[in-house]
Amino acid sequence: MESWKKVLSQAGRVSGVSLKDMAAAADDAAFWRAPSLAVDCGKQPLDKPAMEALEAFAAERDLPSSIARLFGGGPVNASENRPALHWALRGGGEDVPAVDEMRASAAKAAAFADLARSGGLGFEVKTILHIGIGGSDLGPRLVWDALRDYGSEGPTIRFCANVDPEDFADATAGVDPSTTLAIVVSKSFKTPETASNAALAREWLADALGAQEADRHLAAVSSAPDRAQAWGAGPDRIFPMDEAVGGRYSVWSNVGLSLQIALGADVWSGFLSGAAAMDAHFRDTPLSDNVPAKLAMLDVWMHTALGVPSRTVLAYAHRLAKLPDFLQQLEMESNGKSAADQPGGLVGPTGPIVWGSVGTLGQHSFHQLLHQGMRESVMEFVVALDSGAGDKVRGRALLANAFAQAEAMLAGRTAAAAEAQLLAQGVDPETAEARAPHMHMEGGRPSSTIILDHLSPESLGALMALYEHRTFAAGVLWGINPFDQWGVERGKVLAEELDEAIAGGAVGERDPSTQRLVDMARKRHG
Ligand code: F6P
Repeated sequence: MESWKKVLSQAGRVSGVSLKDMAAAADDAAFWRAPSLAVDCGKQPLDKPAMEALEAFAAERDLPSSIARLFGGGPVNASENRPALHWALRGGGEDVPAVDEMRASAAKAAAFADLARSGGLGFEVKTILHIGIGGSDLGPRLVWDALRDYGSEGPTIRFCANVDPEDFADATAGVDPSTTLAIVVSKSFKTPETASNAALAREWLADALGAQEADRHLAAVSSAPDRAQAWGAGPDRIFPMDEAVGGRYSVWSNVGLSLQIALGADVWSGFLSGAAAMDAHFRDTPLSDNVPAKLAMLDVWMHTALGVPSRTVLAYAHRLAKLPDFLQQLEMESNGKSAADQPGGLVGPTGPIVWGSVGTLGQHSFHQLLHQGMRESVMEFVVALDSGAGDKVRGRALLANAFAQAEAMLAGRTAAAAEAQLLAQGVDPETAEARAPHMHMEGGRPSSTIILDHLSPESLGALMALYEHRTFAAGVLWGINPFDQWGVERGKVLAEELDEAIAGGAVGERDPSTQRLVDMARKRHG
């Protein structure tokens, strides 16, 4: 693609320029505003000519048509011949035929949530045991952690995802079965981890309450109602999942039933409306001001044109501690691909390794590598200006730490400056000279800062929708399909085969290492 060649030529130019100089010259064009949030890219190697080249590339890729196809309900998931309709769960989509059915199902779930919240199930729901994995778990966990103070009068949610029964034991520790509603969330209702935990939950309830009463404490969100019913959920307690909503994009759907019950309808609708505002921004804004699209361009720029293999998400708001986990699935399951899906093919290595932590904990752990190590990563700070839960001093400390990290990564420190500092502190000249090279920090390490004014249902919805749309747009720019996950499917099939092999069944043709591992496991579990 001609426009991509120009992007690469810009990358060649920028590689020879100091990031510190670029940052010093950056103006307001590096500060992007979208509903409920803003993005500061003033510490990225992204100047006007580079941005123009990226916009030309996005135009040649016809990103605007892909955005229009997404919001028109067209088939954006070619390998499964499906549209992606997660955005319609937040409003809009009146012209898309499937949306009426999705709305009806959402209304049914909302009515159940009201009933459960108001004691209408015949018992008081004090705990929701939310069972699911991947997209049926990570979004709800993030939202619950971020917003649970808004639902203070509702029940608490306990999450259980791992097939290791220790997870179930932790999730139910100290919980009273008689006030627990177990909700299994699984599109297929046969994901092994979830099926196993669903069985444990039913047993746990039946042991305490008796089999008949236990069933009144079950509900399911699934596209496999037969399997959910066989588990014990009554037909009026099974809420569908739409095939056109992928797991990692599904928190807005009935997958969020636990959240609707625990947080209440007002918080839930605020969350959806914040996301809907981001949808409108992504759908209606030209590329030059479209923040999710520009972040996608930044991703392709940093991770493909400039070749930085990873992105580190640093959530400087404790309530957003689960954001890196959520983004790992959203971005790596969406864009960790190598099969071309767009005319023009792939432009180079696709999705980055996404990882991170909650600030300031990472500072006392892996930030050393980010400051002085020899591997590169693009940092992404996420801050909320109202952090600190009303405690101005501590909130200020949190923000100061985030800004300081970003500044230190950009500015670095020369050995000469370090030596002068040591001498000023009274360190003897010989020690100062020997120590200074170890205190040298190269600097020029790029970062962005995403700023929420206030962590609220609306801004969280906007933030998560921002990341969804960025992921989709980046997939289009890379030339892949962000909505399938064939790699993960393969692992699920092999796990079933190996489970049988460990139990004593045929091992089949396997590599010697796997054969050895199966033999060892058989001794315990065969
Ligand atoms: O991990 C693969 C995956 O298919 C995810 O995309 C999905 O969110 C998760 O498994 C759970 O699947 P299910 O909802 O069918 O249990």
